[in-house]
Amino acid sequence: MEKATFKSSIGTFAAVAGSVVGLGNIWRFPYLAGENGGFAFLIVYLVVSLLVSLPVMLSEFAIGRSQRSNAMRSFKQISSGPWFLVGFLGVASAYIIDSFYMVVGGWSLEFLRKSVMNEFAGQTSEQIAEGFNSYVANGVGPVAWAEISLCLATIIIILGVSKGIEKMNKIMMPTLVCILVILVINSIFFLPNSQAGIDFLFHPDFSKITFKTLLTAIGQSFFSLSLGMGAMLTYASYIQEKEHLPNTAFRVMIFDSTIALLSGLAIFPAVFSFGIDPSSGPHLLFLTMPNIFQQIIGGRFLSIIFFLFVFMAAITSQISLLEVVTAYASEELKIKRWKAALGLFFTMSITGSICALSQSDLGLFVINGHTMFDIFDYASSNYMMPIGGLLIVIFAGYVMPERILHSQLTNNGTQRPLPFYYMVIRFLIRFVSPVFISLMFLNLIGII
Ligand code: PFF
Repeated sequence: MEKATFKSSIGTFAAVAGSVVGLGNIWRFPYLAGENGGFAFLIVYLVVSLLVSLPVMLSEFAIGRSQRSNAMRSFKQISSGPWFLVGFLGVASAYIIDSFYMVVGGWSLEFLRKSVMNEFAGQTSEQIAEGFNSYVANGVGPVAWAEISLCLATIIIILGVSKGIEKMNKIMMPTLVCILVILVINSIFFLPNSQAGIDFLFHPDFSKITFKTLLTAIGQSFFSLSLGMGAMLTYASYIQEKEHLPNTAFRVMIFDSTIALLSGLAIFPAVFSFGIDPSSGPHLLFLTMPNIFQQIIGGRFLSIIFFLFVFMAAITSQISLLEVVTAYASEELKIKRWKAALGLFFTMSITGSICALSQSDLGLFVINGHTMFDIFDYASSNYMMPIGGLLIVIFAGYVMPERILHSQLTNNGTQRPLPFYYMVIRFLIRFVSPVFISLMFLNLIGII
């Protein structure tokens, strides 16, 4: 069977961008930046993205494109040792993240529906908060919407790599950018006292930059760039030989950071304009924002496009996670793509529902006071992703034959945009990334 590919450079960029731009950009980055030194954090973030995260992305790209196979088999084809387990860990992480990511995709659909029906009209902030909490506690709505979100993702996966994933991202990414620009313009120019929000995001405070901030920045950049779980590896297996991988990776990184910043500029001027305390996570998107939209001119329209934006960011990431598992299942079980996707639809319906129900007041799927949703989130971000990322760079830097890395990153020696550029990347992969990822991991699990 001929291996599917992304058909164009733009499509390749859009697909990878679709994976990286997600909830991490919207509900976490702006708050982290604001709380950790504003512009100073931004500089640290960009530096660590370049020196620590980009090498991981390039390692995944090189492994995936050279082997043109799923995450597990790619490792197996290169090395006969136990390294295939790293790929398997990636598949498992992708499955786990997708199980709770689809729940949030579902929330954004429900909030999109509420905005379209104008259901927030006239509600006080308490009523909005109460509405969200009882929606989550009820369990039925979140399960149903998560299934719808999963169903949409499955349809795109079944449509295929080029006709589904590439095409959808080519439509969704520009739409997402347009919506974001409208939201930013509204927040900055049409809301009173928007300067306070801009200050929160950008005011440089270098005293906030500590070693821990640096490690936090690495963690955020890792999640935001979808690293350590075979998503970039799997997408790279569809990238054509003519594409220049470092170029794609660099542009994606800049795009991801830009979207994160613009999200901050869409959200925080509005938050400060209404004198609300900044926050992050679900609270920010599903309580604070509807409350604000309630109070501004054109709020209903803005609320609709905002939740559309959140949904598009979520579903394009969700699809990349699902693709990691689908590629694995269809290649390893030697079954057609649609069969693998349908099979996954059923199993993930179950794990996704478990995540959604664990937050309901039924008290199901809660272990030691921790919901399954939180356990999945915690395990994947704090253990699976950093361990996966670390092993990936070690593999690319020390185990994989060097000629593979070289030919993938320089297009067989034909493309070297800067002097020493390959040597620098290889140095980062071998020495810089592993050290910093290890430190980040030790920090995440509380050892340093
Ligand atoms: N990068 C996504 C975000 O910022 O929300 C999350 C994500 C997607 C992580 C895909 C990992 C992944 F493989």
